[in-house]
Parts: sequence; structure tokens; C-alpha cells
Amino acid sequence: MLQNDSVAVKFRNVTLSKNNRPLVSNLNFTINQGEALILLGRSGSGKTTTMKLINHLFTPTEGEILFNGKSTAQWDEIELRRKIGYVIQETGLFPHFTVEKNVGLVPSLEGWKPKQIKTRVYELLNLVKLPPEQFAGRYPHELSGGQRQRVGVARALAADPPVLLMDEPFGALDPITRLELQKEFKRLQQDLGKTVVFVTHDIQEAFVLASRIGLMYGGEMVFLGTPDEFIQSSHPEATAFMECIKPVV
Ligand SMILES: Nc1ncnc2c1ncn2[C@@H]1O[C@H](COP(=O)(O)OP(=O)(O)OP(=O)(O)O)[C@@H](O)[C@H]1O
Ligand SMILES: [Mg+2]
Repeated sequence: MLQNDSVAVKFRNVTLSKNNRPLVSNLNFTINQGEALILLGRSGSGKTTTMKLINHLFTPTEGEILFNGKSTAQWDEIELRRKIGYVIQETGLFPHFTVEKNVGLVPSLEGWKPKQIKTRVYELLNLVKLPPEQFAGRYPHELSGGQRQRVGVARALAADPPVLLMDEPFGALDPITRLELQKEFKRLQQDLGKTVVFVTHDIQEAFVLASRIGLMYGGEMVFLGTPDEFIQSSHPEATAFMECIKPVV
């Protein structure tokens, strides 16, 4: 079926059940090329599950997900995942690889020349504020949690995929580094026109990054709209999140 070129991903009546219990239900939404869609929701609301449906780590029980107009069930999985950078919630670095090797992994699988890989890795480590002369040769266990997360972000960006899935990539960072990286990342995302799906339960982070916010609650997407529309929303879960940014008196 023909689909508008500006649509990167489309969820059509998607439900995923495990042991007869739905983890997410009736998901119907599109992600446009070049937008930053933030999946916001409390713990257990279905954010990570929604993300894993996009790169076919999960297969829907009902409905389908179209990636570039083709059902994820019909994509060759390797080809699909090469188009989708993924920062997982627990970073997922290879413990026996140095930072340099972890970040350069996908480019090397894609057959880039060693010199080209090194240049790219150094560029990305600078971007995520890990000076390569200090960090390239270290192993993941020699880093702090926040530094590991930044290596995970660099790794997902390495082969320049058009779509990025980022599952709470800045969760372990102090608020100052976090805001710096959020701003840097937003600039990069807009300059490069990347399509980003970004999971967070931090409403402030959602406002910094979002072109649209999808609010998950109990496995459903109960709101989808711009940050301005989110502020106006009368959905109780949206107002509960808005309460979080009011000063406590
Ligand atoms: N493989 C699985 N099998 C069965 N249940 C699962 C599986 N993965 C997740 N769940 C359940 O599905 C629900 C949604 O989980 P999910 O990981 O999507 O939440 P989340 O919104 O990402 O939460 P958090 O903010 O804590 O990361 C939870 O109730 C979880 O226990
Ligand atoms: Mg999660």
C-alpha cells in the first residue's frame, strides 16, 4: 500500500500480549521523518515495549508496524536494524571491547576502512564530551554509569542511521551534563534531520527535545501532540505530569 514519504513509522492497531495479558494495546500513530517523538510515561506504562516493536525485537500479536511503508514482519531483520540506531535502557556495551571498539562496531560490520572508523569514533566521543585521548582505550567497567550511557549514544550514532530509538539515554547523568547533552542532541537531530523516538519519564526532558509527545498510560497512548497541546491537555495523566514541574511550596 502506498504511503506518504514523510512518514517514517506507522503503528496500525498494534497490540502485544504475553501470557494473555496485553503489554501495549491499540497503538495507532505515525512518526514523521525528521521529528523527535518523545514517549513519556510512568514506569511500566509500555514505553520500552513500544520501542522494541519498531525494530522488531517484539512482533505484534495484532496489527502491524510499517517502517518506510513496509511491515516490520517483512523486513530482513539485519537490514531493518542497520537503519535504526538503538540506545537501550541499560546501555548494552560489550564488556570486553574498549570504548573505541564499542563505538566503531557497526561501521566496522559495514566494512568501513579502519582510518575512517577511527575518525568517526573520535568525532563522536568529542560530541558526547568524552575526550577520546582519555576514554577511547578504556573498558566499560572503567567508566561511570553516565559515561557508559554517553558511549551508548555515540555507538548508536556511529553509522549515521536515519532513525534513532533512544531509551532513557540520559537517565544516569547529572542535571548539568544532562541539559548540555539534551541541547547538543537537539541541535544535532535538527541539523541532520534525524527521526528520533526518545523515551523518558522526565517531563522537562520531553519539553526540551520534543516535536511531539506521546503519553503512555497502562499500555495505551492516551495523548499525542505538541508540547503546547500537552500543556493544554485535560487528560489526568498529562495533568499529573504537569504537576511534577510546579514548584513545591
Ligand atoms: N518480555 C516481557 N514479558 C512479559 N511482560 C513484559 C515483558 N517486557 C515487559 N513486560 C511488562 O510490560 C509492561 C510494560 O513494560 P515496559 O518495559 O514497556 O515499561 P516502561 O514504560 O518502559 O517502564 P520503565 O520506565 O520502568 O522502563 C510492564 O508491566 C512489564 O512488566
Ligand atoms: Mg523502559
